[in-house]
Amino acid sequence: MLSSFKVEKPASPLLRILKSKVPEKRVPCWFMRQAGRYLPEYREIRQNVNSFLELCYSPKLASEVTLQPLRRFPFDAAIIFSDILVIPDALGLQVKFAAGDGPTLQPLQLDKMTLTIDHFKRETLFPVYEAISLTCSSLESSKALIGFSGAPWTLACYMLEGKTSKTYSEAKIQAFRHPERFQELLDLLVSCVTDHLIMQIKAGCDVVQIFDSWASLVPDTHVFAWVIEPMKQIVEGVRKVYPDVPIIGFPKDLGIHIPVYVRETKVDCIGLGFRENLSSVIQSIPSSVVIQGNLDPSILVAGGDVLEKEINHIKETMQDHPHIFNLGHGILPETPIAHVEDALKILRQ
Ligand code: CP3
Repeated sequence: MLSSFKVEKPASPLLRILKSKVPEKRVPCWFMRQAGRYLPEYREIRQNVNSFLELCYSPKLASEVTLQPLRRFPFDAAIIFSDILVIPDALGLQVKFAAGDGPTLQPLQLDKMTLTIDHFKRETLFPVYEAISLTCSSLESSKALIGFSGAPWTLACYMLEGKTSKTYSEAKIQAFRHPERFQELLDLLVSCVTDHLIMQIKAGCDVVQIFDSWASLVPDTHVFAWVIEPMKQIVEGVRKVYPDVPIIGFPKDLGIHIPVYVRETKVDCIGLGFRENLSSVIQSIPSSVVIQGNLDPSILVAGGDVLEKEINHIKETMQDHPHIFNLGHGILPETPIAHVEDALKILRQ
């Protein structure tokens, strides 16, 4: 039986805002994909392993890479170094990250699908949990540790397409052709994602975020079934075991559906992509739901005046609403380190 006992970290500004939901003058900050290729110390470690997944499954190295950005920048949280595709990997889909290309997987064919929960090899993910425990033991109490997972829809996109794509049309065609089979796949992924999040919390994560990076590709008529309902079930499943651990949903570019997503899933915090309009989101959701985001990562690469102007715009717009400063998508590999330093200085001015 999993214990719902958690050691509290009252000194963590990120956890404080996620629990109190009261706006604070000093806005907590972390960046999506803050550990990664823009850091020379990451590239150094990455060079010495054979594959990206090997790095994800090496607890000591994954923990080291998780901590790297916090040694350079005064972020308020670390996010465990891993990937959303570890779930398809644990389901046996032979995930590979070849240099230069995006990930590839053995594509699923829904009409011939035999995949069930029995194929989920939980032990594949044990190194992730070990990396979390290791990271906890060296993280200051003022810093929160974030665990994460992909959302069922986004994971299904990769599993059905077998590779990255701009449109995921192959995945969508299969989902529309075989709706019952697709529902079975979503249900299976709800179980795997819930389990993975609970295990990450058990290992020591203070907060979890669910990335639905391709939420904007779902047609209006299917948003409820493919994006909102699975997320609602995940939130309920995690809260049954850990009722007090904050949950951040990141349904990228969900636009007009955000209020329904927030209301139905009951997430503590909504992560916004860089295309969302902050003022309209503030007006359309309760003031008790924290907003995270939403600087365009390309603005961070550009730096200079536009960086200052955009950060100040976000600060001003968000001053009366509980807010976690973040990017609207993952940090780009070409981001100059000096611009990350500048961004944090501008934020704290
Ligand atoms: O945020 C962090 O610092 C933690 C680590 C993290 C990674 N991936 C490391 C990574 C997180 C949170 C992710 C999430 C992730 N992975 C998402 C959701 C967020 C998003 O960007 O929309 C997605 C869609 C993936 C899948 C994925 N992983 C792709 C498409 C790729 C290849 C493209 C790319 O950016 O390189 C990856 C590889 C990956 N994941 C890298 C890192 C640091 C680069 C691989 C390398 O170092 O060789």
